[in-house]
Amino acid sequence: MNQQAEPFLKDMKEAKDLLEADFTQVHVSRPHESAHLHVSGRASYTDDIPVVAGTLHAALGMSAKAHAKIVSMSFDAVRATPGVVAVLTAEDIPGVNDVGPIIHGDDPILADGVVQFVGQPMFIVVAMSHDIARRAARLAEVVYEELPAILTPQQARAANAHVLPPMKLARGDAGAKIAWAAHRETGEMLLGGQEQFYLEGQISYAVPKDDDGMHVWCSTQHPSEMQHMVAHMLNVASHNVLVECRRMGGGFGGKESQSGLFACCAALAAWKLLCPVKLRPDRDDDMMITGKRHDFHYTYEVGYDDTGLIDGVSVDMTSRCGFSADLSGPVMTRALCHFDNAYWLPHVSIDGFCGKTNTQSNTAFRGFGGPQGAFAIEYIVDNIARSVGLDSLDVRRRNLYGKTDHNVTPYGQAVEDNVIHELLDELEATSNYRARREAVREFNANNDVLKKGLALTPVKFGIAFNVTHFNQAGALVHIYTDGSVLVNHGGTEMGQGLNTKVAQVVAHELGIRFNRVRVTATDTSKVANTSATAASTGSDLNGKAAQDAARQLRERLAALAAEHYGEDQVDARDVRFVDDRIVVGDKAIPFDEVIMQAYRARVQLWSDGFYKTPKLYWDQAKMQGRPFSYYSYGAAVSEVVIDTLTGEMRVLRADALHDVGASLNPALDVGQVEGGFIQGMGWLTTEELWWNAGGKLMTHAPSTYKIPTVNDCPPVFDVRLFKNRNAEDSIHRSKAVGEPPLLLPFSVFFAIRDAVASVGNNTVNPPLNAPATSEEILKAVGAVRASVAAAAAAR
Ligand code: MTE
Ligand code: MOS
Repeated sequence: MNQQAEPFLKDMKEAKDLLEADFTQVHVSRPHESAHLHVSGRASYTDDIPVVAGTLHAALGMSAKAHAKIVSMSFDAVRATPGVVAVLTAEDIPGVNDVGPIIHGDDPILADGVVQFVGQPMFIVVAMSHDIARRAARLAEVVYEELPAILTPQQARAANAHVLPPMKLARGDAGAKIAWAAHRETGEMLLGGQEQFYLEGQISYAVPKDDDGMHVWCSTQHPSEMQHMVAHMLNVASHNVLVECRRMGGGFGGKESQSGLFACCAALAAWKLLCPVKLRPDRDDDMMITGKRHDFHYTYEVGYDDTGLIDGVSVDMTSRCGFSADLSGPVMTRALCHFDNAYWLPHVSIDGFCGKTNTQSNTAFRGFGGPQGAFAIEYIVDNIARSVGLDSLDVRRRNLYGKTDHNVTPYGQAVEDNVIHELLDELEATSNYRARREAVREFNANNDVLKKGLALTPVKFGIAFNVTHFNQAGALVHIYTDGSVLVNHGGTEMGQGLNTKVAQVVAHELGIRFNRVRVTATDTSKVANTSATAASTGSDLNGKAAQDAARQLRERLAALAAEHYGEDQVDARDVRFVDDRIVVGDKAIPFDEVIMQAYRARVQLWSDGFYKTPKLYWDQAKMQGRPFSYYSYGAAVSEVVIDTLTGEMRVLRADALHDVGASLNPALDVGQVEGGFIQGMGWLTTEELWWNAGGKLMTHAPSTYKIPTVNDCPPVFDVRLFKNRNAEDSIHRSKAVGEPPLLLPFSVFFAIRDAVASVGNNTVNPPLNAPATSEEILKAVGAVRASVAAAAAAR
């Protein structure tokens, strides 16, 4: 035996075992890549970055008026405050005074001559500490000349005040079908907005760099946009500006465009003073300044038959956009494209009006208008069911998209991957829906004060950015000579687990263990021209881009390994990457050994990757196309109890079944479904935005703005993933999960409405608006009682 024989025999056995092993790094649950840091307080957020010596702190001076001319601003008292270094206004901006993400010119960084909402930033105070800056900002003397203000979407509609031209999506002849239908109904309702309430607030830290450079650490979902905004504001090229974000403590859409204001203000102060400047607004200031989910006002008309089948429906939606366009256009487009939700609407007419109001400029929030669109049809279907006296689930089923026919959306995309029928079958059975319906009926028959309600609602949600060119992503994968792997991609981590999924994809591609892979901060100097991490597309896009990079590396390594270890007897295509080994013929070589060999052989050990989602097109003018890559589906059943004397409400049980295709990481996906559900539940129940008669948002802190707590979580909360595979060639056939689950708690709202309706023996459609706060529930109970009494008196 020669000297090689002994290790060879061992390799042969190992190689054989490895080839038979079922090694996978995807479709497996594993903790969030930073979970150990989150729970121990060691995860570093922008405010935790050790500051450079000489760092100053900024605060924003905000408008006290909803709409006014600024006659004068005097900063004598501000400047006289010990510790104040500078006051900056719009006049100090060297470049463009604008942070409009799409429409340019309607979104000033600092008010210039006129203010358009209470809270609008007018000037920046820079001081030795955050506290000094904030206190001093209040000492400015501003003289206003008040102008008429528009404060609600309805007022905007009446005044024809809009931030963008009205939109329309129609098919067939809704008017005629409604006119000829067996039954007709018209109505109106309101759906409230929602504060993103990211736990980490908006923040930016700007550090001037050599030769007109600017490095901005910013809590943002969209580093590339921040880079461009800062560059335009400073009147420098984009390559002068570097924006970096390791992670956010939540974004939820609120840091897609609106982080720009903070990035620009910090960078402006840093530029002017040639000092590092941090801008971390207080929670109240953050809530007063930044836009939220758009609240909507709807009017509708629907025609249907005795079975609840919709013949024709028209809806008119007005959104509160606030003072500028921001992302209101795409939000309304998505609302129009989600009015159908899971339903086949052959004759439909949908109007969208983007109302301009003197309030915060509303922006992205989980679902991005999709929830607002789908809510309207769910409300209408809920009404129809009560009017025809059928269980709402049966009416919902009656109107669902077909599998092979009745499957084209109003915007012309065929629904080719419909699993909603099977999904509803499964959920109806596992939730014991029919028996519980009977139990609720019986409970209500025997209780006068407490009333229960039950509802099951479906979700269909389109995945991709409507704007086709946003659907692209890039990644970089580096392998170091010790066999450790570093990944960088254009997506941002906000708690959703994107980095974990991308690391899993890379580990899987290279056949290595997860802990070899580290994902680094999103950085505009690494991957250029990235899209926002939004529209739930983070892992679809960046997962594919990282896979592309890793695949190129694997191919290079396979060629090297075949040549070096297989002595050219093995085809590179037969080289396998399994469990930290590279299997070449009957040899299993440790990954790091091959890497070192590759380095010596001068093989490039880093690669870029790119991805663009195929098959997409969209004609915004015609509102037609194939805007979505595929659809995600889901459904939930909620059971609630209300107190008809106080309006208090509890969710007793919620069962959710959600489709994420072949999940990349079931544990993370269940977490997203649970989080989305609770967040959507808060939106529809306790989270109320309230502006006073002067247009001042009065609910600007957790003391008055009520997000759900652990006590509000349903005591029985059963969340499951629907067994499925994406029909499209998405990353490992998974589906996006970030936003669609936010629509699942529609079931909570309609269960509340069901409970309220029971007060009138389910004969009256309760005029319940969202959020269904205790006050709103009580009002609706009163209204139902009054209309039952009126009907009795009329007989
Ligand atoms: N989950 C956590 N924990 N924090 C967040 O801020 N944002 C949501 C969703 N889930 C969010 C979240 C929103 S609005 C979107 S668009 C997606 O995550 C974005 O990430 P993804 O595309 O990687 O799913
Ligand atoms: Mo999510 S609203 O698309 O950031």
